Amino acid sequence: MLTVRAPATSANLGSGFDVFGVALGAPADVVRVERASETTISITGAGSQYIPEDPKKNTVGAVADALDAPARIRIDKGVRPSSGLGSSAASAAAAAVALNELYDRGLTREELVPIAAEGEALVSGEAHADNVAPSLLGGFTVVTADGVTQVDASIPVVACLPETTVSTRDARGVVPESAPIGDVVDTVGNAATLAVGMTRDDPEAVGRGMDDRIVTPERTALIDGYTQVRDAALEAGATGVTVSGAGPGVLAVCYEADQRTVASAMLGAFSDVGIDSRAYQTHVG
Ligand code: HSE
Repeated sequence: MLTVRAPATSANLGSGFDVFGVALGAPADVVRVERASETTISITGAGSQYIPEDPKKNTVGAVADALDAPARIRIDKGVRPSSGLGSSAASAAAAAVALNELYDRGLTREELVPIAAEGEALVSGEAHADNVAPSLLGGFTVVTADGVTQVDASIPVVACLPETTVSTRDARGVVPESAPIGDVVDTVGNAATLAVGMTRDDPEAVGRGMDDRIVTPERTALIDGYTQVRDAALEAGATGVTVSGAGPGVLAVCYEADQRTVASAMLGAFSDVGIDSRAYQTHVG
């Protein structure tokens, strides 16, 4: 039996819509695989009751098919589905690594990215690699039509997860079809600032660079309490705050010394609007 752990991820980071992603130190999914004549899947852990175990309807089943690697697969979910923290991507990434090794397929982590993304297509309808790439490669990733660029980075973050859910379909439905050139110029500038900040492990540049004028303002309206949580995090010292993935998770970047204060401010702000939440004080890494 082979066991692989794959981390939660946060995609977009505001200004990098469908392009930027980061691996988080926590939470994570753990996948165990054994060779079998046909694929079976069993799931335990966070939100497992909402995930289909039928291999034809599960990201991990799609990965097993793509690698021609039938197996008895057990998934222990640490990353709750519909959280904005790349739940299905973490399972797909862990399964891709585990099955590649179980069957000696010899693929590199980079070669596993499109295979894990195929699993993502099964659940979201689109083969986005912006969550599977950082889950497989770690650090900060930039996904474009031409491939994936990865850099190691270490940035303190707080990922605050309310008990509410936002459907990815709804979150994609509010993405505008066009944007004023001024907003595009500002957002491109911010994305460049963010990317440079990642190469320098600079929480100030990363936080400032997350500001996005195009997609994020439309999405925050779908997350109850977002404005209060963002303002509380900034007041507590966060250098930037944005929606994690398609939401409802909220991601704050900060200096290490402010991490605990930022986390309790975010939890308190969700609580003030009557929403329970959980905060992961962790790092990009
Ligand atoms: N980039 C996607 C979105 C998230 O924000 O809709 C995960 O692929």
